[in-house]
Amino acid sequence: MGELRLEELSASTIVAANGLTLRPGQEAFVTPTSYAIADAYINPLTSWPRVVLDGDEVVGFIRGNFDPENAQPEFRSCVWRVNVAADAQGMGIGKFAIWALADEARSRGFTQLTVIWEPGEDGPEDFFLRVGFKVIGETQYGESIGALEL
Ligand SMILES: CC(C)(COP(=O)(O)OP(=O)(O)OC[C@H]1O[C@@H](n2cnc3c(N)ncnc32)[C@H](O)[C@@H]1OP(=O)(O)O)[C@@H](O)C(=O)NCCC(=O)NCCS
Repeated sequence: MGELRLEELSASTIVAANGLTLRPGQEAFVTPTSYAIADAYINPLTSWPRVVLDGDEVVGFIRGNFDPENAQPEFRSCVWRVNVAADAQGMGIGKFAIWALADEARSRGFTQLTVIWEPGEDGPEDFFLRVGFKVIGETQYGESIGALEL
């Protein structure tokens, strides 16, 4: 693996990002119900989408949401989506993406980065805890709300 970097989406990388394949069983965890519902109401201008590149290859995708006025505190500075290509998982790419998003949040003056995930065997819970998120609550759909202090 070379040096990782984040880039804004372009016509070619967005196709690669949409085509990232996950490991069996992971698809169900990519979009927690709370995000799927809120997506219909979220202003696209608050979205911060980036691809993770290893050389010229798209190996991951992360989308943050920065919306300081949002009525729901867990949507103000958060990880909306993060996924890493099946064959590139377990090599630190997810952690790199979260830390880059955390840097962006910090530079915007936020003191916390939050994320919502669905508990489950093939889900991302252990990843988020390992990266430093602490569980601070639960949504009405039984999902965990995690927070990383910046
Ligand atoms: C969750 C996901 C993004 C993690 O990406 P990744 O690149 O494989 O994770 P990393 O290699 O950066 O792992 C960072 C740390 O978390 C740990 N970790 C990652 N996944 C883990 C798991 N399933 N169980 C236990 N530990 C895990 C790693 O061992 C590593 O620990 P270390 O810092 O001690 O070395 C990836 O598995 C994925 O794309 N999942 C499917 C999509 C998804 O569920 N997204 C979340 C939606 S909210």
